[in-house]
Amino acid sequence: MTIRPVRAGSAPPCAEDGAVTSPIKEPAHVATANDTASQHHEWWRDAVIYQVYPRSFADGDGDGVGDLAGVRQHLPYLAELGVDALWFSPWYASPQADAGYDVADYRRIDPMFGDLSEAGALIAEAHELGLRIVVDIVPNHVSDQHAWFREAREAGPGAEARDLFWFRPGRGTDGELPPNEWQSVFGGPAWTRTANPDGTPGEWYLHLFAPEQPDLNWNNPKVREEHESVLRFWFDLGADGVRIDSATMPAKDPELPDFDPASPPVPHPYIDRDDVHSIYRAWREVAAAYSPPRALIGEVWLADPVRFAHYLRPDEMHTAFNFDYLNSPWDPAALRSVIDATFDAHASVGAAPTWVLSNHDVTRHVTRYGRADSSYGHALRQHGTSTDLALGTRRARAALLLALALPGGHYIYQGEELGLWEVEDIPAERRQDPIFHRTGGTDIGRDGCRVPLPWSGQEPPFGFSPAGASAPPWLPQPADWADHTAEAQDGRADSMLGFYRTALAGRRAEQGLHNEEFTWLPSDDPGVLAFERGAGFVCVANLSAAPAALPADTEVVLASGPEVDVTARVLPPDTSVWLRRVRG
Ligand code: NOJ
Repeated sequence: MTIRPVRAGSAPPCAEDGAVTSPIKEPAHVATANDTASQHHEWWRDAVIYQVYPRSFADGDGDGVGDLAGVRQHLPYLAELGVDALWFSPWYASPQADAGYDVADYRRIDPMFGDLSEAGALIAEAHELGLRIVVDIVPNHVSDQHAWFREAREAGPGAEARDLFWFRPGRGTDGELPPNEWQSVFGGPAWTRTANPDGTPGEWYLHLFAPEQPDLNWNNPKVREEHESVLRFWFDLGADGVRIDSATMPAKDPELPDFDPASPPVPHPYIDRDDVHSIYRAWREVAAAYSPPRALIGEVWLADPVRFAHYLRPDEMHTAFNFDYLNSPWDPAALRSVIDATFDAHASVGAAPTWVLSNHDVTRHVTRYGRADSSYGHALRQHGTSTDLALGTRRARAALLLALALPGGHYIYQGEELGLWEVEDIPAERRQDPIFHRTGGTDIGRDGCRVPLPWSGQEPPFGFSPAGASAPPWLPQPADWADHTAEAQDGRADSMLGFYRTALAGRRAEQGLHNEEFTWLPSDDPGVLAFERGAGFVCVANLSAAPAALPADTEVVLASGPEVDVTARVLPPDTSVWLRRVRG
């Protein structure tokens, strides 16, 4: 038996330790455990955080795009679901070239979503319901419509305003070639040429994503001051934390050297450079100055667990998304090895792990888990490959119980609780993701996981928009979501929604799941992952296609499928159970 060295008490003391007054009302149905992380200021250590993708959650005003009014209407649904916090993908003023990840003004809400007073009301209402709020901050870039970039573009070469970005003259006889060969993450060159004030071709600017997302120069102190001020703005409005977008990318090698993408140099010219950490150390000081301290949650896509853990040192971020877990195939050995590597990396810095199955950038896991190759990689979305959705759904249920039983925080992407799958048949002319357009459709992009949620009714818009809406949902919903609406699943314990509610309530109430004890249990069956947490709580996941044995002297607390045979002690394929030890 192995006890992993990941314990709440092992976190090094930091400035945040101290008296707490929280604006949060703890939900009335928190059953036990004065020591649950959700009840003290390090709530992120074991919170369940639900990602709201505002464009696709609920449309209050009938324009076919989700908005804050829609979210406010459904806050009771989210509280009843049993999550602890809501993370909002960007809701700021934005031309929406990358669905809001191109921010024009952090201090305004996009009119399509509402306004600032509505955001304040939403935050207050969520707090009343015991839900914390996390907002998205995008440090690597802004919109090309941001006041800074407009000024820089108009000012011309040599202007101080240009130093906030990466403007450079081109190569070639007339500057007709980009300053280097860097490629955009979304496809095509990472540089766009500007015109001089007199209309002649001018300098180029760097954009690691779309041309509408110019990269900021973090060597300029004004960029740092502005972002720290933006953090305070949202913390003062009541945000309990921030999710940090593309967190490994803001620091650049100022020489902007060319490199071979097949074997990039170390350090990389723009990914995970050592100087990026000074940004988050400063942000930690901002977050720590609040009572209770605010949380910093990083989007850190890095293969190297040691480098990943650097972002979670005691004076940097509090937690980060575990993409290795998301990427892993539905395979016991692969998942076990990711779980072990996750514990090791986090233990090294005293941070709490997270468990992530889906988000707005990746193929929904009901679909992934229904494929022969259930692993995930951006480069290979496996769009259109044969998918068994019944199998994917069964595995998604098993995956939830497995992940919820692991120590750490858990993320739920909206619609996951309805068992939604990736929508693969969106016509090309309706697709909106810049990845689809910039790759000429070679990469199908992320629209398939962003389709507006089905709430009620028998046909689109499935209650996403109110009756009499002036426009259809911004992405088309599949007709066969009629039996996947929240309304159709409500009150049915066997539905995915019913199962999520039961599992989340069970996790909240289960004392053994609110400390960081974890022990692998021996198993002769290579298809099984079994572990014990505190207070005699055991989780067994059968990830194989064959039945497995249930451990002796346990009773079933919750199962992901209906066919667990407690008498014959048989756990069917692709099924997880929560068990409690009983005396033999
Ligand atoms: C990561 C976000 O999750 C993604 O949606 C966005 O396109 C890029 N960062 C650029 O901001």
